[in-house]
Amino acid sequence: MKILSIETSCDETGISVVEQLSGSETITLLGNALASQIELHAQYGGVFPAMAKRAHAEKIIPLTIEALTSAGLLTPSSVKTTASEGNNHRELIENLCSKEQEMIPVLIEFFNTYEKPDLDYIAVTVGPGLEPALWVGINTARVLGAVWSIPIIPINHMEGHVVTAAVIETPDTDPKQYVFKNLEFPVLSLLVSGGHTELVLAHSYGQYDKIGQTRDDAVGEAFDKVARMLGLPYPGGPAVSRLAAEFRTKGFENPFILPRPMLHSQDYDFSYSGIKTAALYTVRDLVTLPDSVAAKRDLTEDEKMALAAAFEDAAIEVLVKKTIKAAEEYGVQTVIVGGGVAGNTYLKNQLSSRAEALAKEGQHLQVFFPAPWLATDNAVMIAMAAVARIAARNIQTTLPEDLKANGNLSIASAV
Ligand code: KG4
Ligand code: ZN
Repeated sequence: MKILSIETSCDETGISVVEQLSGSETITLLGNALASQIELHAQYGGVFPAMAKRAHAEKIIPLTIEALTSAGLLTPSSVKTTASEGNNHRELIENLCSKEQEMIPVLIEFFNTYEKPDLDYIAVTVGPGLEPALWVGINTARVLGAVWSIPIIPINHMEGHVVTAAVIETPDTDPKQYVFKNLEFPVLSLLVSGGHTELVLAHSYGQYDKIGQTRDDAVGEAFDKVARMLGLPYPGGPAVSRLAAEFRTKGFENPFILPRPMLHSQDYDFSYSGIKTAALYTVRDLVTLPDSVAAKRDLTEDEKMALAAAFEDAAIEVLVKKTIKAAEEYGVQTVIVGGGVAGNTYLKNQLSSRAEALAKEGQHLQVFFPAPWLATDNAVMIAMAAVARIAARNIQTTLPEDLKANGNLSIASAV
């Protein structure tokens, strides 16, 4: 079984090709192409949907060619396409890509140049995310699926993040190989990214209950906003975390303490806008000079480091406390973490050491994190979610015309 997967929900355009031989548990990553829009969005400090859409539309077919070529699945077309065949495709492509006009000539050229590759499924992210961006991936899937007659599996982006910590990457194989861990369901999943902060109870692949979520900003978004206050580049998570780690190695007491909203609330919800605002006021008070409201100074490097640590301490403490509490209440033995913030070393250390402390008290709890390169958005996670669904016999293929983007798609609803 070979799957081509497509991810365009935010600011990464990803295409991957995976293969699982029948009777084998091993999943081989035959091809993987990823184009990040970070540099484009960094100038503005955030992602603009119209710009993201244009960048996806420009990159998606070259990346598809790259991934299929490294998978060895593209062969040049042996037959010269007749004018009428070309026109057939043209009409279909023009219909499906009416909002992505720039892709039409590229797609026509693509189908005229290459034979149909040996693929069984196309998996594509249908939500949540930025709808104009999602549509680029969806319309590409619709065209490829229709022209090549390949069934399409719609995938929830958050389910992609769930499965990244559920696979084991075999070290040092080229191409990379994966097997799914034998997880004992239900499993608790902490999903932390630029758009989401959620605690999800997974009963199986495809069956999820959301037990808590942020009421305002996502934790990754708060990292990005605090980074901006400290003059650090977008996306801010890794930069803030690096400064915080540097502060901790010095062993000083932190002069700044930021609030931990909802730490003691009885539910599993989160709130990150309060921490962000408190950080903003702290910065404002520091840089405003007493003799004139207009006069400002720059933050010192020591202040930046201490603020980064104060923010990370507060942000991560709430995540760890609520995750452990939920694991205990729901009696789960496994926590899997996913999303860009799953790449955060401090979160990993704090959550893992809480789980180890519980184990010493006789309470079995294991915590899994994704390989850092799979934590942020990519297409491999979308392919893995499709593999998990197929193995759980819980897939629904969709006709190209029925595929739709849903920017607010919840992990608890069917796709
Ligand atoms: O999952 P992702 O790539 O995209 C979304 O679906 O949002 O997550 C990106 C987010 C950004 O907010 C970024 O700042 C944050 O994840 N992030 C981190 C780290 N690496 C990425 N936050 C904290 N620590 C990190 N090491
Ligand atoms: Zn994501």
